[in-house]
Amino acid sequence: DGQPALGENARNATLDGARADDSGCVLTTNQGVPVGDNQNSLKAGLRGPTLMEDFILREKLTHFDHERIPERVVHARGSAAHGYFECYKEQSKHTRAAPFAKAGKRTPVFVRFSTVAGERGSTDTARDVRGFAVKFYTDEGNWDLVGNNIPVFFIQDAMKFPDLIHAVKPEPNNGIPQAASAHDTFWDFASLSPEITHMLMWVMSDRAIPRSFRMMQGFGVHTFRLVNAKGQSVFCKFHWSPMAGTHSLVWDEAVKLSGADSDFHRRDLWEAIECGEYPEYELAFQVFTEAQAEAFPFDVLDPTKLIPEELVPLIPVGKMVLNRNPDNFFAETEQVAFCTAHIVPGIDFSNDPLLQGRIHSYVDTQITRLGGANFHEIPINSPLAPLHNNQRDGIHRQAINRGRVAYEPNSLAGGCPFQAGAKGFNSFPASVEGDKVRGKPEKFAEHFAQGRLFWISQTPVEQEHIVHAFRFELSKVQTVAIRQRVVAMLRNVDETLAQRLADGLGLALPPAMPLVSMLPMPTYPPSPELSLFFR
Ligand code: HEM
Repeated sequence: DGQPALGENARNATLDGARADDSGCVLTTNQGVPVGDNQNSLKAGLRGPTLMEDFILREKLTHFDHERIPERVVHARGSAAHGYFECYKEQSKHTRAAPFAKAGKRTPVFVRFSTVAGERGSTDTARDVRGFAVKFYTDEGNWDLVGNNIPVFFIQDAMKFPDLIHAVKPEPNNGIPQAASAHDTFWDFASLSPEITHMLMWVMSDRAIPRSFRMMQGFGVHTFRLVNAKGQSVFCKFHWSPMAGTHSLVWDEAVKLSGADSDFHRRDLWEAIECGEYPEYELAFQVFTEAQAEAFPFDVLDPTKLIPEELVPLIPVGKMVLNRNPDNFFAETEQVAFCTAHIVPGIDFSNDPLLQGRIHSYVDTQITRLGGANFHEIPINSPLAPLHNNQRDGIHRQAINRGRVAYEPNSLAGGCPFQAGAKGFNSFPASVEGDKVRGKPEKFAEHFAQGRLFWISQTPVEQEHIVHAFRFELSKVQTVAIRQRVVAMLRNVDETLAQRLADGLGLALPPAMPLVSMLPMPTYPPSPELSLFFR
């Protein structure tokens, strides 16, 4: 402990090249010209107009004018830290992924925690899901485990993500509210999307107001694949557990903190690391086979479902320690680009239709957010593993590639860089067959059993908090039919929960939402039996 592993030294060395230290240095322009006067612009006479030729003033203002980049379309507010992942015991039986190759092996990581809905300057303690994104700088390239602090998600298919986020974000006419959930559009969408029920239960629980980033769990959410050196594969869900335990605020604390210190979580993470109280998290695999998956009553490709630990226990595989704050918020925390498409040999995707969409979305958004196709060259994003390919040019290209060959196969450069064959990344050859269709597998249609499981797993005090959260949020919803639909939906989770909400909101208990799948969504106008729900 205390001694950085080889990988960490290498990581520091790569970042050293980008670090700038001004101590003892003269002030210069971007062209390195020493600046004589940094206080006064160049004028025609002391009281005259400023001269166009003042290239020093113009450069300074121009740079300033362009200092803001677009914030992330979601997860705009975040805080990050450097650290390492240390493997407990080699996991070669399940995966050939480099971080799990040997007991004691350390892999450098950069982790960003975030809220989802708020803007970049929004408050830390809002009721919201928290992002938990980890970039592993592995020997075989960067692996990003882009997770959340809640093990399930709102929707089952990437096709619905833009609608979900448009409903969650401030309303487009007036930009209100910043709060994640307290408004008609979110609850309108939620009440017409019964697949959201399980996630709603978590989001209305104390899990959505964590005490600290150091005290929350993290989940990969989707089913992934692990692949070993023999090419054998198992399914896996990834779980992070904080060594400090999982703790939440209570709502009154969250509300007060929002006013008193809207940087509460950011400050807590920064200060803990500055005082050597390094946050630690244990990573566990939840490994299962295709045959096991088929026997579960839910579909493992459905991200609104978790796999109870009673069915598949967790295998702890290593711990992550966050031991260094970033040097520069913008250069590192803001410019880091996590992406679910960043996987390495030994890890692969499942066919989860939400994950499949994410594989496209992250790089796509980052091309806009970080300007062009070369953001992998920004120091925080660049891999530790050597990078050689025939990609060239593009805006702000940093690498000065040499030679006349930028294609493969070639003979003029001795065939380099050459493909790695079996040693490289090769997708697991999962068999696929079927008609080209839109729709969902049968088991995706059950939306309430795990929400019920969550409800009954809560203590009476935690249940009380859930009831209060639903009442608070729904009391902000102005459209009565939306409130009714939510209560109708929750009757399928628990009758007492629904009754307590109806009482609190002054509603007569509406009939339960039909259990039959509402998918595909009915065409409009809705059929008579669903009319209550589409008023
Ligand atoms: C950030 C899309 C689902 C976790 C983002 C960003 C986009 C996005 C566009 C901004 C990225 C950037 O600007 O760098 C999507 C889509 C989803 C989806 C299309 C579903 C189809 C999820 C799920 C999780 C998740 C299920 C959790 C398992 C995150 C996290 C970040 C993020 C943690 C912030 C990463 C950071 O700290 O920079 N997502 N997302 N997203 N997403 Fe998703």
